[in-house]
Amino acid sequence: MTLATLINTPPRAIAVVVAVVAILGWLVFVVLENRRTPAVLTEQYLDAPNRATAPDDDVFEGPRLDRFLGWGLILMAIVAIGLPIYWLAEVGRQTGSIRGFDKRSWQRGEELFLSTAAKPHPGFGCADCHGSVGQGGVAKWNLAVFNTDGTKVQENGKDKLEPVSWAAPAINTVALRYNVTQIKQVLIYGRGGNKPMPAWGVAGGGAMNDQQIDDLANFLRHLAIESYEPAVQTYNDEWNRNGHDADKAYAKALVVAGQEYRKAKSNPADQAKEYLGVKANAGQSEGQALFNLFCARCHTKGWSYQTPNTDYAKPAVAGGGWYGPNLTGQSEVRQFPTEKDHIDYVTNGVDQGKGYGAGGVQKYDGGGMPYWSNMLTPDQVKAIVEYERSL
Ligand code: HEC
Ligand code: HEC
Repeated sequence: MTLATLINTPPRAIAVVVAVVAILGWLVFVVLENRRTPAVLTEQYLDAPNRATAPDDDVFEGPRLDRFLGWGLILMAIVAIGLPIYWLAEVGRQTGSIRGFDKRSWQRGEELFLSTAAKPHPGFGCADCHGSVGQGGVAKWNLAVFNTDGTKVQENGKDKLEPVSWAAPAINTVALRYNVTQIKQVLIYGRGGNKPMPAWGVAGGGAMNDQQIDDLANFLRHLAIESYEPAVQTYNDEWNRNGHDADKAYAKALVVAGQEYRKAKSNPADQAKEYLGVKANAGQSEGQALFNLFCARCHTKGWSYQTPNTDYAKPAVAGGGWYGPNLTGQSEVRQFPTEKDHIDYVTNGVDQGKGYGAGGVQKYDGGGMPYWSNMLTPDQVKAIVEYERSL
């Protein structure tokens, strides 16, 4: 252990200084005492304080005793009052330490999130695909090219690959549509198959341990509230009210963050307006526009990487299914006989491991389908649902 590691935190540095001063002081004392010790001890022995004549009882039990008792009273008062006062603040100290725990967790997650080129410590590179603050970005990816008969095009004896730019979704909002279990599911196992989102957890074949996955999921929750002042306020208030429960504090804060997201710049309504303003999209209904913006990346094959030349880029059947199920052929009218059930499913999702609709099965226990109550208004969900029921 080097001196640098011994004093790497302020409390340690202080402890080391105190220890050094104490040891030096003791050495000085020993040396001086030895020097002072007279050759003949008799005189000193006769002069020892315990051999001196004691004062009279009058003096002993008079002001002197009073003085001692007075000091005793003062010290007892300090203990009697000081301890309860110290104890009163103990709850606050405990809350503070749990909050500190949560904060250190998401701060560690933030470091994992950084670009692989980050200085001084490279992260795991989430930012390289999802954008520096998780606002969304692009993943470079290669896909096989197909012949019209469905076989793969060969080149030099290998499958011909075509580079595509795969839109990586914004994940500064992911906690608004996925609960923590679902977020961890994606982080641990990735999106599977030939898709850019890698598996990060050990269970999925990645390099991150449970603690790192927890820290990242915590960071994504934090990221979803941090840019909205009222959401941060709610988070703080909730800590003070219910105390000690990060999950409860986030649950309330995320609802508020959703309200703010729907009001903020580039909210879903604005995005739909901008989308419909593009010539190629003119004439689509609001429901279709919102579906393309929020649902198609999972329910329409190739939506995230439209590019010429690959079979994947053939104008995919809208809602024809991909990572999420096929929604065409009136399948949703069969899955959800009433529009209300359909709206309810899209709005709230279902609990982990539960079925839905007439025979719906979650892709895996966490469920791959997000819930949309935080990000979309009831009117927007209704518009999308009506579009889906028309497919
Ligand atoms: C090589 C690029 C790439 C890297 C690196 C990457 N991701 Fe992803 N991620 C994606 C893509 C692309 C998707 C969407 C996949 C799809 O289309 O199914 C995605 C999806 C996700 C989702 C699900 C979002 C949703 O709403 O569907 C989360 C959460 C996520 N990534 C978090 C992370 C985190 C955290 C890291 C770093 C540990 C990371 N990603 C690293 C490309 C990447
Ligand atoms: C991140 C990928 C993803 C996104 C984005 C997504 N879904 Fe899904 N969706 C799924 C998956 C996966 C399922 C299958 C159920 C499960 O695993 O939870 C599903 C199931 C569904 C179903 C039930 C289908 C059936 O017949 O079983 C409907 C309806 C649906 N999604 C609508 C939507 C709507 C509306 C949106 C956009 C507002 C949307 N989805 C966005 C992945 C997604």
